[in-house]
Order: sequence, then C-alpha cells, then structure tokens
Amino acid sequence: MCGIVGYIGKRDSQDILIEGLKKLEYRGYDSAGIAVFTTNGLEIKKSKGRLAVLEDKLRDEPLAGSVGIGHTRWATHGKPSDVNSHPHTDNSAKFSVVHNGIVENYLDLKDELMAKGHRFVSETDTEVISHLVADEYDGNIVEAVQRAVKRMRGAFALGVLTEYEPERLVAVRFASPLVIGIGEGENFIGSDIPAILEHTRNVYILNDGEMAVLTRDSVELMTTEGEFISKEIYHVDWDLVTAEKAGFDHFMLKEIYEQPKAYRDTMLGRIAEDGKSVNLKELTMTADYVKSIRKVHIVACGTAYHAGMVGKTVIESLARIPVETDVASEYRYRSPIITPDTLVIVVSQSGETADTLAALREAQRNGARVLAITNVVGSSVAREADDVLVTWAGPEIAVASTKAYTSQLIAFYLFGLHLATILGTKDEATVTGLIAAMNELPEQVESILENAPVLKQVAESISHHKSLFFIGRGVDYAVAQEGSLKLKEISYIHSEAYAAGELKHGTLALIEDGIPVIALVTQEELYEKTLSNIKEVKARGAHVFGLANAGSEAEVGKSVDELFAIPKTLPLLAPALSVVPLQLISYYASLALGHDVDKPRNLAKSVTVE
Ligand code: F6R
Repeated sequence: MCGIVGYIGKRDSQDILIEGLKKLEYRGYDSAGIAVFTTNGLEIKKSKGRLAVLEDKLRDEPLAGSVGIGHTRWATHGKPSDVNSHPHTDNSAKFSVVHNGIVENYLDLKDELMAKGHRFVSETDTEVISHLVADEYDGNIVEAVQRAVKRMRGAFALGVLTEYEPERLVAVRFASPLVIGIGEGENFIGSDIPAILEHTRNVYILNDGEMAVLTRDSVELMTTEGEFISKEIYHVDWDLVTAEKAGFDHFMLKEIYEQPKAYRDTMLGRIAEDGKSVNLKELTMTADYVKSIRKVHIVACGTAYHAGMVGKTVIESLARIPVETDVASEYRYRSPIITPDTLVIVVSQSGETADTLAALREAQRNGARVLAITNVVGSSVAREADDVLVTWAGPEIAVASTKAYTSQLIAFYLFGLHLATILGTKDEATVTGLIAAMNELPEQVESILENAPVLKQVAESISHHKSLFFIGRGVDYAVAQEGSLKLKEISYIHSEAYAAGELKHGTLALIEDGIPVIALVTQEELYEKTLSNIKEVKARGAHVFGLANAGSEAEVGKSVDELFAIPKTLPLLAPALSVVPLQLISYYASLALGHDVDKPRNLAKSVTVE
C-alpha cells in the first residue's frame, strides 16, 4: 500500500502535493518523493523516511512548477531507501511514474527491457513501469501508457508524466484505488478523497481498467483499451476526518472491512494460475533445507501469537512437522532447545516488537534459520530474518489488530502448503481443494460483514456484563483466544478464553446465571464434544452465543441460545472466517461503552520495549 497524488493547474504544485501526501501517510511512510515540471524540465526530489524528511529537503531546494506527481511509500519490492523511493524515471529521465500496487510480472519485463539496453538503478517494480512506458512511447503518452499497462499483471494505480507532453497528466487504475479531483483551471489525482478534499469536492472515482487524461482545463476518461467513457461526478459531502477513514467511524472498522482485500493481496501472485500449487518465490530456503527441518518454533506476541497458534495446527496437519508455539517474552528465558534443524517462525505485524526481535536473535545465535511473517517490509524483523513472508494487509492504524492477524493466517496457509508440496505430505487433490477454498475466503468474509447489524446487537447485550467466556476446541480454541483479547483490549470487559473441554477442571465454578459464553463450533469432528461442553455451561445458567458453520444450524442451534452462522469452508480455514464476527462484536461493544476504539487506554501500536 502506498499513496499517490498529482496536480496540474496554475498554482505552484509543491505544497499541494506535500499537503496531499500528508493525508496519505497512513498508507505508508517509508519514503516520499515528488516530480515537478520546472524550468529545467522534469525534476525529482525524493528521500527515505517520513514526509518531514522530504519537506526539509524541499525547503532548501524547492521545486517550482505547476504540474507534478507525488508518492508516499510503503515498501513492497525493495527496502526503504532513497533510490527505491518514488517517483521513478527511465534512463532518458524524460518520464516519471508514481505507483501504488504490485506488478507481478516485473522481473520478466525487467529482463526484456535490460536486453534492449535499459539500465535499472532500483529494486522496485515501479522503475520497470517508467522504462516500459518510455519504451512504448512514440509521440503519444496516452497510447504508450495503454500499451504498457496491457503488458503488466497485478494491481496498480499510476500517475505518469513525460517531459515531451508537459500539458498532460495520465492516471490509471487497476485494482488499486484512484480518484480524480475536478477543479477550475486545475485538476488532481489522489489515492483517496482526503488527499484532494482541501481543493475540490467534485471527483470521479475510477473503476478497474479505467484511466484519465488530465490537462489544466479538462479531464478525459477512457478505458485502458482506449474507449472513451463518461461518469457521474461524485460530490463529496463528508468532512476531512470522516474522509480519512473512508466513511467509516473508526480505523478499526475500516480495517475489518478491508480484510477481503488483504486476503486477496496476500494471496496475489503466490498461487499458481492453475490453482494446483503455491509459489513462494520470495523464500530463499531450498527444498533440501525444508527436508532437513525436524521441528518448528513459532514465536510472537499478542494477536500475532494467536495467529501462530493457528499456524501450529496448519503446519502440523499439512507438513507433519512438530511445532511448538511460544510467547516471545518467555521464549529466551525457558532455554528453548534450538538446533540447526529447527525452523523458527517469528510473526509480527509491525516487525519492531522488542520481544519478538530478541527471540529472532536468540534463534539465530543458536544456529536456527528464521522465517519472519510481517506486515512491514523494511522493519527490523524483516531485515534480520533469513526469509520473509510479507502479509499484504496494508498499514494498520487501529491499535487492535484485525486485518494483520487474518493476513498472518493466510501466510501460514500458504507456507503450510509450500512445505506440504516439497515434503509430499499432501496429495494434489488436497492441495488443490485447499487452494480453491482459500480463493473463496474473501467473498465469504464479505458475506459475514453484511451481517454486522446482528453482531452489533450481540455486542450491545454483552456490553452490560462485567465478565464473559470464549470457548472452543482445536483451532476454535486459538480463535477464542484472539476473540477474548480483542474484547478485553478495546471494551475493557474482562473475558477469558478456554479450551472447551478444560472448563470443568476448575473454571466452571465461575459460570453463574446469565453470564455470556461465546462458543465456537466450526470443527465438524469435534461437534459432539463441544456441544457437551456447551451443555455444561448452559446447565449452570450461561447464556450461550454460538458461532457455527452454515448448514449446522439445526445441530448446533438446539444447544445454544443464539447462533451466528459463518459460511462453510474447510475446517483448517475456519479461523479466517470465524474471527471476523468476534472482531465486530468487540468493536461494537467498545462503541456501546463509549471507549476510544482506535486508541485503547494503556496500549500502543508498536511495543518496542521488553
Ligand atoms: C492486539 C495487538 C497486539 C500485537 C502485539 C504484537 O490487537 O495488536 O497484541 O499483536 O503487540 O505486535 P506485532 O505483531 O507488531 O509484533
């Protein structure tokens, strides 16, 4: 996820671009840059670090001109650095591109362009676009962009300028957001509405496969095939604060709703087109190494640890390698038995959690190889690990993690399948079946989100209670842990998660009349056992809210007071669906209690102390 802006008009563009980028910093802040037509031609200034670093640079050496594009980066291909920052250009320095998204086939395109004599300076996929457009250019920038886009696979939103046609700014959208702002004698592009809202409330919202050609006085809309189209102007009537949250009341809710996209993005380019295998080409571990792994340690904190609990089941069931999970703050102090044939997987959204980083170092000190599952490309964990699987959830702003957690689950499914394929522990039909079911997850999450009002009612009834329980067996227990943590951290209601069969060994004493129990019942082979445990709490007066698979309502419905059905998927994948209602329940409970949902008391987004 990155943010892009563009301006063509009569005013000086630099401040407009910088102000627009400030509104987009939530989309990434590894580096920033702008390209402006000055009296010297197309000039670029960019730098690693927050936007403030670029602002300092521009204070000393401003770029004066009334046409420009800008970018704030969240590193994907290539670490955060000056050279990997956008805008990118080609060898003639006559073209400039800002890009949000991923060009999946950039390595093939790069090889082809290098064979034609193009020289590259960065590790990014975006630089390939600027060379490709330059290569396709024969006097018409719009046609050159159309030809280039036809050759690119992936997700992207682009802003393109060329010194040959300084009166035109070209914008394209393909599965990454882009809006066009319509002004008087000036026009704008932005990754979202807040980036341009200060200047205009009239916008075109581009759909996938559409592009716009902006001059100072006109906006021409067309498809990337060159067919002209017309669109209704959308008049924005929200204020800026609402707009930054894309119309949602809180970042947490926005991020919950972004999960279908986060799933798709995390799978993008990692599943073979025939749907029969996964392709984790970013991993450097060899097949021989995979065959030498004797045990796996998964180490993480909080929500990431809960993803690791699911990861244990995934790896053990798909690859048949024994897995231990550890909370990172405990790992080093229990003298874990780490040998060179131990693969240590650290999971961290931020990639900066001190305990997780310390665990990573401890593992490497003992000769283990470390795989990091993280959401931040240039983070400390990503830099120090031997291998990195990035979750493409995009920046997570709310303190309570939602889309990062579910993307971590997707990463575990992909990695589990990767191991299974190398080790031959699962046959082709099982692998293909899992991949097909994974591809259905984004739409299934969408259908859960459509039922948010039901979950709001559940949350409101729970919010009157001082304490409650989450129960489940198998991976349902792992999800129960996450549901309980989510509720605690933003609603401040005390809750505990229990393995359903464990309650009767002590905790059952706490069950009294009316106490809410949220029971997860998604694992078919454990239905009977879990239903018995539900009966145990009901017999002591608990009010049970059941979360079960569609199709099992008749069976589970009899044993619970209320039931919410999630779409049917394979048992191993159920956590990627069942956690979503729990996130919504926590959100609405916090809201009902009037708490600061995005910034709960006593907590921070990134915990860099041990
Ligand atoms: C809870 C939450 C935390 C984090 C934990 C680890 O919603 O977000 O429990 O999961 O602090 O953070 P990362 O994943 O950044 O290492």
